[in-house]
Amino acid sequence: MAENEIIAGLDLGTTKVCAIVAESTPEGLDIIGVGSVPSKGLKKGVVVNIESTMQSIRAAVEQAETMAGVEINSVYAGVAGSHVSGMNKDGVAAIQTREVTKADVERVLEQAQAVPLPGDRQVLHVLPQEYIVDDQDGIREPVGMSGVRLEARVHMVTAASTAVANLRKCAERCGLHVSDVVLQPLASADAVLSEDEKEIGVALVDIGGGTTDLILYVDGAVVHTSVIPIGGINLTSDVAQGLRTPMAEAERIKIKYGCSASHMVDEDETIEVPSVGGRPPRVMPRRVLCDIIEPRVEEIFHAVRHVIVETGFSDMLASGVVVTGGTTLLDGMPEHAEALLGLPVRRAAPSGIGGLIDVVRSPGYATAVGLVKYGESHIDGEEVDFVEEPEYSGVQTIRSGFGSRIGAWFREVF
Ligand SMILES: Nc1ncnc2c1ncn2[C@@H]1O[C@H](COP(=O)(O)OP(=O)(O)OP(=O)(O)O)[C@@H](O)[C@H]1O
Ligand SMILES: [Mg+2]
Repeated sequence: MAENEIIAGLDLGTTKVCAIVAESTPEGLDIIGVGSVPSKGLKKGVVVNIESTMQSIRAAVEQAETMAGVEINSVYAGVAGSHVSGMNKDGVAAIQTREVTKADVERVLEQAQAVPLPGDRQVLHVLPQEYIVDDQDGIREPVGMSGVRLEARVHMVTAASTAVANLRKCAERCGLHVSDVVLQPLASADAVLSEDEKEIGVALVDIGGGTTDLILYVDGAVVHTSVIPIGGINLTSDVAQGLRTPMAEAERIKIKYGCSASHMVDEDETIEVPSVGGRPPRVMPRRVLCDIIEPRVEEIFHAVRHVIVETGFSDMLASGVVVTGGTTLLDGMPEHAEALLGLPVRRAAPSGIGGLIDVVRSPGYATAVGLVKYGESHIDGEEVDFVEEPEYSGVQTIRSGFGSRIGAWFREVF
């Protein structure tokens, strides 16, 4: 019997670095190891300190490996930040033998992404939306169809090459091969959205610590991706300033007593707030805290709404909005978001997997779980640079192990 494949995801978040190992079995994907540690080397989703990021990666990977009892050699890594941009493009190609072949499809996708990119940017994803064969549109799988002209509509995601290179560098210096760099909200979508939602039309909003990531699906295809550089850290720093309390306390107070909108909180509820500079703690109405949080939540959802309206797809989101990411755990956020967006809102955590699902059933794990799901569905679609390094594999068997990591170390040192 063939060995089950091991797939690992590495989510480099602004507040936490999370490694997840899963085993791909004939019955589905089983999470077998999870490691999550605070992240110190990232700002707004982008690596700003290689050494700190590497420390977090090592710690998270070690935790996940210990729990799983396997060694992680290669990972699917998530990327985010304001440098990421998405656009819809078209491509056209002649069908060479009057019947669409895989080569024709490859050519039309090549053609669709043939735009002059500035030297400091690179293509991350080319996500097909639909194919058109002669005049027949709405085709998902054109191979085998008869015709003379093949057209493709795609959503293309590009990123700053340096940001991607730094992210790769951090993982590779920890002895990990990066099988693929994946746009974080694309991964999150794999973890929390159903196929039905994608078909009917849905917006996924992943509100993390540093960024709010947006991805829109219409007719089962990605039509928009963007990143808004606001997240939970902004809420915490508002609370720290508003209540004149240290960041760590503000974070604790936000998580324990925070609420998305102050009208959702009872007028008489009080909270105790530690002060700075050795002054005694103060007791104050919980509403005061929520008055500080509310405008920032509104800012986030006004920005989300603005982006959705600008895309022109707002009338095509019949499944409404799905929110995920750690910040959506804020009390009352889905209800508040619904009022602010004028669309139905559901808060989602990863689903559709087995194993240690209880450990990862929280919105903060959407990206990490999504990365292993993405990895599972792209096992055969390795990157081109992979050909040069045949000893690596995007997937590993349980027994494969040390060799490739030592190999990476050798390349690093010599
Ligand atoms: N119960 C809670 N209520 C409010 N906020 C919360 C709660 N739990 C976690 N958070 C916030 O969620 C944020 C972390 O979310 P998440 O883990 O999704 O972010 P990240 O992946 O590290 O960051 P990013 O994706 O932006 O790079 C933190 O700002 C934290 O304060
Ligand atoms: Mg995140």
